[in-house]
Formats: sequence, structure tokens, C-alpha cells
Amino acid sequence: MQSIFILLLTLGCISVANTYQCYSCDGDRKGDCNDPFNITAMTDNDKREAPPGAACKKTKRESKGGSSVFRSINSFGPEDCIGGQNGCETISGDGITATTCCCTSDLCNGVSAVQQKPLIMLLTISILAMFAYRWY
Ligand SMILES: *[C@@H]1O[C@H](CO)[C@@H](O)[C@H](O)[C@H]1NC(C)=O
Repeated sequence: MQSIFILLLTLGCISVANTYQCYSCDGDRKGDCNDPFNITAMTDNDKREAPPGAACKKTKRESKGGSSVFRSINSFGPEDCIGGQNGCETISGDGITATTCCCTSDLCNGVSAVQQKPLIMLLTISILAMFAYRWY
């Protein structure tokens, strides 16, 4: 049972510590960047490797004139992710509503609702490890 436990733990650490990429595009210049996101139109130029500790960021600006989405890497530090490294926050003023979401897994800012994969992965692995521990 110990080997299974160690294997699961190792897999969990790898999936969390893995480097990842983020989409980097501006909906004002490239319409496919807006919601609904068109993944097939994204090239390697629209992806960037996230530096350690950085999060993928998606900002959606909405006003009377319409909305646009800006996807990037939060390379300036956690304070840029106003809703946290794995969360969302909305600010509004002057008729503009801006929702910023951050997440820390591969290409996670390429979905309409930002996912929180690492946390779910870690939970799943912990639960599996708990079951493995009880069975052996
Ligand atoms: C998505 O992008 C592909 C490639 O540029 C294009 O052929 C397709 O029409 C786009 N789909 C939508 C829904 O805009």
C-alpha cells in the first residue's frame, strides 16, 4: 500500500508543480479571443509560458458598446489578480464592468468560466490516497 500512496503523492506533486502555458491575446485586436473563445484560431503566438508563481489571467470588459476579452499572464505579481490566484473579481464604474479571473493550470484562461484544476486534482488525489490507505 505504501508504494501506491507514494505514487499518488508523486503524481499529485508533479501535476501541481508543472509549468504551464497561458493564452495571451487581445479581443480588441483578435475577435477569436472574445467569448465564446475560439480555440482553433489560436496559434503558438497566442500562448505564453507562465513564469513560476504567475497565474493565467482573463479580463472581460463590458460596456454599453459591447464587450471584449483580454487574456494574458499575471506576471506583475499576485496583486494583479484582484480575485486571488484562483478566483474572480468584478469591478464596475463609469458604465464599464470588468471581471478579472486568474487560474494556475495549463491554458486555463482559454475557457469561458475559469476552472480551478489544480485544487480539484489535489482533492481527488487526496481522496484516492485515503481510500488506498484504508484498503491495504
Ligand atoms: C474559429 O477559427 C477558425 C480558424 O481561424 C475559423 O475557421 C472558424 O470559422 C472560427 N469559428 C468561429 C465560430 O468563429
